[in-house]
Amino acid sequence: MQNLCSSLRTEGLRIGFVPTMGALHEGHLSLIDLLRERVDILILSIFVNPTQFGHNEDLDKYPRDLEQDKKLCMNKKVDYIFTPLTEEMYQPNCSINISENLLSIGLCGSSRPDHFSGVALVCAKLFNICQPSVVAFGQKDAQQVAVIKRMVRDLNFQIDVLVGPIIREYDGLAMSSRNRYLSAEHRETALFLNRSLQVGKQLFTDGVTDARKIINQIKSDLSRVDGLELDYVEIVNRENLIAEIDVKKNQSICVIAVWVNKVRLIDNYCF
Ligand code: PAJ
Repeated sequence: MQNLCSSLRTEGLRIGFVPTMGALHEGHLSLIDLLRERVDILILSIFVNPTQFGHNEDLDKYPRDLEQDKKLCMNKKVDYIFTPLTEEMYQPNCSINISENLLSIGLCGSSRPDHFSGVALVCAKLFNICQPSVVAFGQKDAQQVAVIKRMVRDLNFQIDVLVGPIIREYDGLAMSSRNRYLSAEHRETALFLNRSLQVGKQLFTDGVTDARKIINQIKSDLSRVDGLELDYVEIVNRENLIAEIDVKKNQSICVIAVWVNKVRLIDNYCF
């Protein structure tokens, strides 16, 4: 893959790259569309990266459907799908890590302490292999976007990072490979995630700018939902993830993580 990408670049072609863990849905596919006009070659990787899963997380259970993923990529005219094996990506004595010490600490980092180091490591490796000029990430994973942008800046990757909007199901549930774990009943519960973000948005539209007030309203709404356990709800600056006191349009995001029947779901909304 690295040799192939080197020769594509020698030919002067611009490579666009979408890293994924597979079980593709419209959210992933929208990132391909985001890159299409900007590049000559489109590469999508499918790799369920072990270093970003905690010991008690769903690495083994993570949905895998390579045949379906291939069909979706062919329909989208992806030029190359890169599906490395774990033993190809990680040497048994791999001893270099990437640690990000600011943006990865709070929010999802509180309950997933090594997650963003794992994401940064695999993305750095994939960037070195696929040598893209442009990469696309989804705003669905707002903290991941902040970490990747920081890594690209601080480690001098010569790569543009594009960010695509959150793609949702018809009823507002943010698309996620993990949604397939939800029963019909739990899926109904999961809808409160987006609904509570809408409540926050409405409060802001009505003139409430005090972040604490909006957070408290969302917390009290979600505390009444049976079967939903709140991990966090915060309002932060979308670039540096620092908690906001006053909500600012186009800069502040409300970020939420919950568990619905042991399935961890995240969502966010930019004011
Ligand atoms: P994965 O969860 O497969 O997501 C791959 C990309 O698709 C990420 O950039 C994610 O933000 C984006 N995405 C997922 N759901 C989306 C939605 N509903 N709308 C828009 N974009 C969406 O994120 C990862 O994989 C991994 O951490 C990875 C970056 C591949 C590193 O292993």
